[in-house]
Amino acid sequence: MADVRPESMERITTPELARKFIDEQLAAVKEQVGDKKVLLALSGGVDSSVVAALLIKAIGKNLVCVHVNHGLLRKGEPEQVIEVFRNQMDANLIYVDAVDRFLDKLAGVSEPEKKRKIIGEEFIRVFEEEARKLENVDFLAQGTIYPDILESGPVKAHHNVGGLPEDIHFEGLVEPIKLLFKDEVRVIGRELGLPSNMVDRQPFPGPGLGVRCTGAITRDRLEALRESDAILREEFAKAGLEGKVWQYFTIVPDYKSVGVKGGFRSFEWPCIIRAVNTRDAMTATIEEIPYELLGRIVARITGEVKGINRVLYDLTPKPTGTIEWE
Ligand code: XMP
Repeated sequence: MADVRPESMERITTPELARKFIDEQLAAVKEQVGDKKVLLALSGGVDSSVVAALLIKAIGKNLVCVHVNHGLLRKGEPEQVIEVFRNQMDANLIYVDAVDRFLDKLAGVSEPEKKRKIIGEEFIRVFEEEARKLENVDFLAQGTIYPDILESGPVKAHHNVGGLPEDIHFEGLVEPIKLLFKDEVRVIGRELGLPSNMVDRQPFPGPGLGVRCTGAITRDRLEALRESDAILREEFAKAGLEGKVWQYFTIVPDYKSVGVKGGFRSFEWPCIIRAVNTRDAMTATIEEIPYELLGRIVARITGEVKGINRVLYDLTPKPTGTIEWE
């Protein structure tokens, strides 16, 4: 498949068009790989999940999925990957618990791009190790989508976790969704029967929570971040904002402020809420969130999350702030 989307290619917007695309790709994948094995790094994000579901349909257990838990995923994500792919789709799934390995490598590292580099490189290393343990894996599948091919000159090193392993030779690459835009990938995912909270998921950076636990990552602050993010997502979903706000998450910076909790002085981290809308992530505007909802979120985060005594709302559009804090 060429890397350029033909002018004549119809935008996939309906289940019928999705089915047509799926049928074509099933045939193309079978033709490309025959009865050989294909390896896929399955993060649980929209793109890799859709590729996994498609390839399971095409080649079943000849697809080997590797899910690396680097400790920087959102609450419940590794569990959902196992539930959907291993339990429901009967996929050949290898789960790698690499949490300690990543957090040890990241300990004491505060420079954002250095953190990204460590996460990206360590990911490739773990993935390569798993690939080496397997015999006769001939193809590498990737969830590349069209914007990945078009993207140029970002502000940050957006090298996604899941870059190509350099030391292993594959016969070829399988990239069935590389000419599709995100909205089309979601239509395909729905048609393949993936759960809506997987298909309609907001964008999540490859380095995950690592760029939201600012400065040098510590386990306790990472846990506060994961819990506050889960509360924010839950409250946004309850308020019907899921799918309406483009991206929303929390940040827990590496400094503390004085507060009062249960009648006693506290000295704890703040938690910052970010909720933005954008078309292409190059610029972004701030969402007006109802005060009542914000109040509920503040009460829950300060009441339920260990180590947080303040909640702030970031009102800065992009520019001048980037969407992420690192
Ligand atoms: P910024 O912070 O540059 O983010 O305004 C724009 C969009 O990109 C996401 N983002 C990343 N995605 N790897 C990724 O795959 C990264 O290192 C990374 N940094 C930012 C961010 O979440 C937003 O959607």
